[in-house]
Amino acid sequence: MKKIIIAIDGYSSSGKSSFARAIAREMNYIYIDSGAMYRAVTLYCLRKGYVGNDFLKTADIISDLREINIGFAYNPDISGYETFLNSENVETQIRGVEVSSYVSRISLIPEVRSRMVELQREIGRERGIVMDGRDIGTVVFPDAELKIFMTASVEIRAKRRYDELKGKNMDVDFETIKNNIIVRDITDENRDISPLRRADDAIVLDNSRMTITEQLRWIREIIKNKLNEG
Ligand code: DC
Repeated sequence: MKKIIIAIDGYSSSGKSSFARAIAREMNYIYIDSGAMYRAVTLYCLRKGYVGNDFLKTADIISDLREINIGFAYNPDISGYETFLNSENVETQIRGVEVSSYVSRISLIPEVRSRMVELQREIGRERGIVMDGRDIGTVVFPDAELKIFMTASVEIRAKRRYDELKGKNMDVDFETIKNNIIVRDITDENRDISPLRRADDAIVLDNSRMTITEQLRWIREIIKNKLNEG
């Protein structure tokens, strides 16, 4: 059966990764979390002392880009993919607060973006992948056979994030989380390079009132039609 590329972009906490992961599992495709790649570069920069509160050593970051290898490997124990930075499993570290607070600055560097896009295209060469991010349908794979643009109301996204952090016993405040999401939306949509926007040929999925099961039911039909096309 022919293999396609499924590009999933959308707002923070819109449920992109759960949805993308579930589709990949159903189709036996590779799932690539492009945000994890920007997070891995950020971890590298933190370790090298290239980024901190009041400095960003852009020239050093750019000159090291060829030495930063990022890969993914499937771990059957967790039924999911884990991120590797120069052969080291960094899945846990890239999700931490420190990386989260610097990643948006690192992902603004044009040379970092070009390198990540190059790696992402290499991974997608054979097709048969589901990749999620902010610029997958617009920049990385403008020729993807299926593009989904995910959104949900700010209230709902804030509630999901709040529940997720509460579930991890973190002391969180709903209004702070909601404001953080609003700010991130503005940043993502207004940056100069690769801003978050819906590709003209992307299908919008507003999952404010949909469970993951309903979302999967919705997309199955669309995928079936795509696979039968041409
Ligand atoms: O999806 P996430 O929160 O793990 O993404 C981490 C950061 O990387 C976030 O600040 C947005 C950025 N990012 C990006 O600029 N382009 C992508 N394709 C994916 C993520």
